[in-house]
Amino acid sequence: MPALVLLGAQWGDEGKGKATDLLGGSVDYVVRYQGGNNAGHTVVVGDQKYALHLLPSGILSPGCTPVIGNGVVVDPAVLLSELSGLNERGVDTSKLLVSGNAHLITPYNITVDKVTERFLGKRKIGTTGRGIGPTYADKINRTGIRVQDLFDESILLQKVEAALDFKNQVLAKLYNHRAVVAEQVVEEMLGYADQIKGYVADTTLILNDAIDDGKVVLFEGGQGTLLDVDHGTYPFVTSSNPTAGGACTGAGVGPTKINRVIGILKAYTTRVGAGPFPTELFDQDGEDLRRIGGERGVTTGRDRRCGWFDAVIARYATRVNGLTDFFLTKLDVLTGWEQIPVCVAYEVDGKRVEELPHNQSDFHHAKPVYEMLPGWSEDITKAKTFAELPKNAQAYVKALEEMSGAPISAIGVGPGRDETIQINSFLD
Ligand code: GDP
Ligand code: IMO
Ligand code: MG
Repeated sequence: MPALVLLGAQWGDEGKGKATDLLGGSVDYVVRYQGGNNAGHTVVVGDQKYALHLLPSGILSPGCTPVIGNGVVVDPAVLLSELSGLNERGVDTSKLLVSGNAHLITPYNITVDKVTERFLGKRKIGTTGRGIGPTYADKINRTGIRVQDLFDESILLQKVEAALDFKNQVLAKLYNHRAVVAEQVVEEMLGYADQIKGYVADTTLILNDAIDDGKVVLFEGGQGTLLDVDHGTYPFVTSSNPTAGGACTGAGVGPTKINRVIGILKAYTTRVGAGPFPTELFDQDGEDLRRIGGERGVTTGRDRRCGWFDAVIARYATRVNGLTDFFLTKLDVLTGWEQIPVCVAYEVDGKRVEELPHNQSDFHHAKPVYEMLPGWSEDITKAKTFAELPKNAQAYVKALEEMSGAPISAIGVGPGRDETIQINSFLD
């Protein structure tokens, strides 16, 4: 068996890192297929807390081979510092594999990300400033630099010069920024080459062979469905495809090989950066969710915007990803509310709509239609089975499941690996 995709069903930060780590002990490969170090995945193992940005969360499971697929954008400096940070904490990272076809985030792409945001002013996206968008833009523009280019100095220089020909004009003439010198970029990039070389592999071949041999391969998404460049709240999105199809292109594995797609779904909703968010709260409830849920960005340290659960979004995630299961996280955070509002539909221009509006203006105007569900006050962090949850917590989960279109197969009741209620196995 199986190849599984595990992805964010909302706007990111659903708890993907914890979910991946939880499965890490039973899987052979954990593969990042898109995004880069814009991700911030927190994994808590015992009393140790790890914040991973670029590396797959499976790196913390000794039996598991972590893979950075071709669809990822790699900042070489971040890759090496994340590896050495883990090594210093005693984590063995020697099994890591990196696709030679993955694109590199260059220093000038980080510059372009930052100056573009500055120039957008009020209309900015609120990116993480890690160079993600400009690197994917270069990839699509066919002026990107790939991991394999690090190992051929003359090709690297030619490609960096080609990329900078145009970019320097824009930087200097539009953004009033000093031009970037190709030779300096090449020198910096070459400085990373020797340390990265040993990890580079034909990951597509390795992963397909692994699946054919019956190994368990887990594709770990960064970001989330609503941040997808095709299916998200464009232009307030990231520049890649976190949705399930992205696992195929971003790892070189056909859709026929994937058996299961698990959506990680927070029991409420959060978002970082700009863009529409129908259930966003601006009152004490929002403050309380942020405080109790510890909703502060792992990558940028920004406060996350918080709101109630949105079943319209969950249904949409089920649809565009073909979800087979949900992993509901952070149920414990909702403990203590007498009643919990859940958004079951939207009202758009006086009409009730059950599905995510196709038209962006409709979505921007959508008002949540709430149903009130009874809350619970008992501590649920020690619950190990569904039956151990208070009746109202059980009813909350069942109601969400019914509205969202796929079974909830696991429930997070705390950040730790063992603070999880497993209802159905993901590995059958
Ligand atoms: P990711 O980007 O999807 O991996 O999620 P983040 O790590 O950015 O944010 C999720 C946060 O919630 C992290 O601090 C996790 O440790 C924490 N977390 C995950 N699952 C649970 C849970 O079930 N309950 C609680 N209280 N915290 C959780
Ligand atoms: P994880 O994997 C939440 C958001 C940014 C911004 C938009 C574009 O931890 O869930 P980018 O730098 O990607 O060009 O920024 O996407 N964003 C995230 N929000 N979690 C993330 O990752 C995110 N990665 C990017 O805040 O709104
Ligand atoms: Mg995160």
